[in-house]
Amino acid sequence: MNGMSLLEARRVTKAYGRTTALDAVDLRLGAGEVVAITGASGCGKSTLLMCLSGIGVPDSGEVWFAGARLDDRPESVRARLRRTEIGVLLQHGQLVPELPAAENVALPLLLGGARRAGALRAAGEWLDRFGVGEVAALRPGELSGGQQQRVALARALITSPRLLFADEPTGSLDSVAGEAVLRAMMTAARDLSTAVVLVTHDATVAAYADRELHMRDGAFPGQVVPA
Ligand SMILES: Nc1ncnc2c1ncn2[C@@H]1O[C@H](COP(=O)(O)OP(=O)(O)OP(=O)(O)O)[C@@H](O)[C@H]1O
Ligand SMILES: [Mg+2]
Repeated sequence: MNGMSLLEARRVTKAYGRTTALDAVDLRLGAGEVVAITGASGCGKSTLLMCLSGIGVPDSGEVWFAGARLDDRPESVRARLRRTEIGVLLQHGQLVPELPAAENVALPLLLGGARRAGALRAAGEWLDRFGVGEVAALRPGELSGGQQQRVALARALITSPRLLFADEPTGSLDSVAGEAVLRAMMTAARDLSTAVVLVTHDATVAAYADRELHMRDGAFPGQVVPA
């Protein structure tokens, strides 16, 4: 694989029963690069994020991260990567309902063996950064959809990952709050040199990316990926 790529997908295919969600997707992302993936509802954006982040596994094709094959590693290895080098913000609820927001954010650090006090302090700083410091002690069920999204984003970034996947990060926010969260996310990513794969249906959001890839029927038509 090309030494410049942080992430590479080769002919990634995934079907749910008779529905082909991904149809031989090729994609390449450089270190620190920000790519927006757009496309109609149901075209395969979330499925692609699942396969690229190692949450899901493609039916065929390959996913490479930082020079190593990702998709054929055991779940334990992929899960460890998601606690360290790959941050993921999913489209639908993924906070632990029993835990207060601050502990949800601190979780990747705590699971990695960090000291509790330091992890919770870092979590508080990240919540502040996304404008939700005041919800630190509340559980996800006590938060609005937009607050939950910001907490999840703080959790995705607390490990300073090399790569962040964000599926509709502003989907539950009005345009003013969405813009603020997006700016905070992009500033954090730039500070940390984190590459971002951003899924959105919003052209204003896509404008924050270095590159936009438009998905249709599980592929990026017309896109030429050099061999
Ligand atoms: N768990 C599943 N079981 C069965 N079919 C699924 C499942 N997840 C997705 N699909 C199907 O796969 C296709 C792609 O779904 P996906 O969620 O990736 O789309 P999307 O582009 O993220 O859509 P949206 O913009 O609405 O979030 C759709 O046809 C969908 O119905
Ligand atoms: Mg989706």
